This record gives sequence, structure tokens and C-alpha cells, in this order.
Amino acid sequence: MQLIRRNRILRQSPAVRAMVAETMLKPSDFIAPLFIIEGAGIKEEISSMPGYYRRSVDLTIEEVNELWALGIRSVLLFIKCKDELKDNKGTEALNEDGLMQRSIRAIKAACPGMVVMTDVALDPFSSFGHDGIVEDGEIVNDATVEVLAKMSVSHARAGADFVAPSDMMDGRILAIRTALEEAGFTRTGIMSYSAKYASCFYGPFRDALDSAPGFGDKKTYQMDYANRLEAVKETIMDVEEGADIVMVKPAMAYLDIVREVADNVQVPVSAYHVSGEYAMIKAAAKMGWLNEEKAVLESLTSIKRAGASLIATYYAKDAARWLKG
Ligand code: PBG
Repeated sequence: MQLIRRNRILRQSPAVRAMVAETMLKPSDFIAPLFIIEGAGIKEEISSMPGYYRRSVDLTIEEVNELWALGIRSVLLFIKCKDELKDNKGTEALNEDGLMQRSIRAIKAACPGMVVMTDVALDPFSSFGHDGIVEDGEIVNDATVEVLAKMSVSHARAGADFVAPSDMMDGRILAIRTALEEAGFTRTGIMSYSAKYASCFYGPFRDALDSAPGFGDKKTYQMDYANRLEAVKETIMDVEEGADIVMVKPAMAYLDIVREVADNVQVPVSAYHVSGEYAMIKAAAKMGWLNEEKAVLESLTSIKRAGASLIATYYAKDAARWLKG
């Protein structure tokens, strides 16, 4: 055979492959989600997320320092609210001395360089387990947005670097940006969950925070997985309303969306490799059906290749270690 082009030339050895590799992961690509609970000295494994834990604030700080040492530069905080503090309006979310606010202050004091991002949504605080206020069985938009804006200011006051609204209400990015400006928080960023789908892959997360919806589902606010154009529309609107970073969630089943969004906006795109995606790899690895490290690095690389420059993943710490080799 005489060929003009032999594509295998560029795949012939590890050195050549390293030279031409387009997508390289690095620890600062990862956002490490953290689940925080009340108490001291507590580290409980989440049953549907083996190897992942809920920690009290003191042990969370140790974890943050370890993540920092591994090159991870951002954490995304979720708190498990006590049942007795939950109500329909998410009142506890605004408590200046609430678990979230205390966690932010403690982490920023212990590891000031770490970029602290906070989940902004009512579900962990809601007696209904919904991301918004419920009236007559409906999740009401505008009243919810008011609370989300106040919650964001409260997180900023505690020292959060970015607030991350994960609720999918209409108009919340503009409301949050306006509230931050009015309160003088001109350095607080917004990472918007712009294209968040109503997904079964959030199951293990809801176990972690005991935040499953008490009735119905989240389909009147989270997006239908049949849709693509809606993701672009939502994301462009969030950028116009002031989002600094946008997000597609989940990641692996939505790589087409990640690419499309990345092609349509001029801000960094993140993708959330969610709890169910973590659980799937864990389960297959435990059965001996997949090599965990290879499966994770291939998955995370594909998410970055699709267009996400940031990846929220429960594998952040493992991946950072594996990349160090
Ligand atoms: C809550 C929230 C959820 C996740 C992040 N923020 C759950 C949901 O929307 O029901 C899911 C994260 C994961 O599954 O890893 N607003």
C-alpha cells in the first residue's frame, strides 16, 4: 500500500501521543463538592455514594486543606439541615449563624486561598424537599427568587467567593446580581446552574442530604432531558443576567449539551459529574467490571473535551491524586 496519510503515525508511542494530546486534565479543573453536617468529629459515609462522606465542620476543614495540597482550588458546599429547622420558606437558609454560613467562615479562615462556592437553593431547607416555596402544590417562582437573592447575600457576607444557584427558577441570576450589587458585594461571582435537567442521576445526592421531594418531582423547574435548544436559551439568558460561570448538569449523558453551550457563550462552562454518575462507576468498579481510575479519567477527560473547563465531581480528590501519578 502507498498512502499519503497514515494517521497511526501520531499514535505510535506514548511520547508522540503526549505531544499531540488535545485535552489534559489538571487538579484546578475540579470543583470538589462537600457535604457538611452539624457536630464535631463526625465523618459518615453516604450509603449510595461509597467512599464519599458527610463531615462536621472541623473535619471538613481538614479535607479542604488536603484538597488544597493536591492542587484543587475550589469547593462547592452543601449542608444537611436538621429536620426541625426545615420549613416551606427555607427560613434557616438566611440564618447568619446557620451551618452554611459558619462553614463558609471556617473554611475561609483555615484556607483563605480556596475558592468557596455555595449551593443556593431551598431544597435542603425545605420541609417539602423542593427547591422553591410551595403554594397550593405549586413551586412559586417570584417569591422563591426573593429568598434566593437574600440567601446569596448572606453567603457573600459570610465570605463565599461564588454563589451557585441550582434551583432553575426564572430571573434568579438578575435578582442575585442586583442584590449582591446593592449590598456592596462586587467581588462575589455567580456560577449558575444554567442548564440543569430533571435527572434520575441525582438520586444518591438526595440520600446524602435527605432532600428528596416530598411530593411530585422537579419537572416544572428543572429541564426536560428531551430538550437541547432550551439549554442554549437558558444559558444565554443567565449570561445576560450576570452569570460569571455557567453549568450543564448532569455531565456524561449531556456531553452534546456541554459542547453546544460552550459554542454559544463567552464565559467559562462547568459541568457537574453528579452523584449518580459517581455511584455508577463505584458500583462497576466494586464488582470488578471496570477499572475505576481509568473509567474516571476517561469520563472527566471527555467532559473537558466536550467544552467544560471546570468539572464539579465527587472524584476530584482521587483524580487529582491519580494525575500526580
Ligand atoms: C439541589 C441540588 C441537587 C444537586 C445539586 N444541587 C439535587 C436536585 O436538584 O435534586 C444534585 C447533585 C448531584 O446529584 O450530585 N438544588
